[in-house]
Amino acid sequence: MDLDDNRHDRIRPIQWRGDHLLLLDQRRLPFETVNLRCDNATDVAKAIRELAVRGAPAIGISAAWGVVLAGQGVQAANGVDAERQIAPQLDALNASRPTAVNLMWAIRRMRESLLAAGEDWLALITAEAGAIAREDLAANRRMGQLGAALIAPGSGVLTHCNTGSLATAGFGTALGVIRAGVAEGRIAKVYAGETRPWGQGARLTAWELQQDGIPPTLIADSAAAHLMKTGAVQWLIVGADRICANGDTANKIGTYAHAIAAKHHGVKVMVVAPSSTVDLATAHGDDIEIELREARELLFAGGQRVVAEGVAAWNPVFDVTPGSLIDVIVTEKGLIEQPDEARMRAVFCRP
Ligand code: MRU
Repeated sequence: MDLDDNRHDRIRPIQWRGDHLLLLDQRRLPFETVNLRCDNATDVAKAIRELAVRGAPAIGISAAWGVVLAGQGVQAANGVDAERQIAPQLDALNASRPTAVNLMWAIRRMRESLLAAGEDWLALITAEAGAIAREDLAANRRMGQLGAALIAPGSGVLTHCNTGSLATAGFGTALGVIRAGVAEGRIAKVYAGETRPWGQGARLTAWELQQDGIPPTLIADSAAAHLMKTGAVQWLIVGADRICANGDTANKIGTYAHAIAAKHHGVKVMVVAPSSTVDLATAHGDDIEIELREARELLFAGGQRVVAEGVAAWNPVFDVTPGSLIDVIVTEKGLIEQPDEARMRAVFCRP
């Protein structure tokens, strides 16, 4: 695949404009393509919390630009002075969502860059945020090559949530592998799960694939096991919000159920994520904070209440797939097959 050929990758959800950030508002897709303007860190934290921007890498990149916006609001002699002044804003950004470790990773990287900077601190952190975005795009393209190479020509794949350009700096993680796999003729058919309750698959992935000339076939989440039983898919390909030291992987709610069904039916499970999603400080999946969102996301559809008044709802929006159910984790640093702690450390603790 020619990596500069962007026939299958046209969407860019995060645009830095020098003194403000434009985010393609994902709450309004697929019928309205409207940018949300963020002028300060508070705007960015709100956009992350309310899912105007979502997907682990996109959250991290947006937060990095949020740090730059916070910096633009202060006068400081050096990076340490600036950090002291904007620390509450960095903490607010850091707390805007709990599960995707890319958010904390990006804030930490931006804070370290700031603390090491002299009087040119603003220029330095602006360059750092740009580097975070560029590195993400490059990682995605690399993972696309590595992951696609594992897929036999003519395969069918199922993906869950949205892991595409919309969720990253561009190209996508799991959807990047799917883009590369389609371009190389390895993937003949792409199924996208609708991803209840927020509909990332139905509203975002189906739209994104269609925009980029890859025809998606939508399924209800509850149709996944039946689809696998028919033999139509050889791979379940998903992204991640946090990968622990032992390979346990948090991703969009429903991924765990899909992985169990995949194991039962001999469908292989591929997790695709950049190294910014790897969290070696978290030993296993039980230690990951799973975001709980408001019941309203379940009780309403398209603004319309669809459940009787008075019914309670429980809405965890991520789950953890044990490393033992994963055939391969694809990162830009290499593949981790049958992941466990030793194999994870062999890739991520290399000197
Ligand atoms: O709640 P969301 O839409 O932010 O959840 C997104 C996912 O779970 C994605 O699969 C994950 O962040 C990887 S995106 C490349």
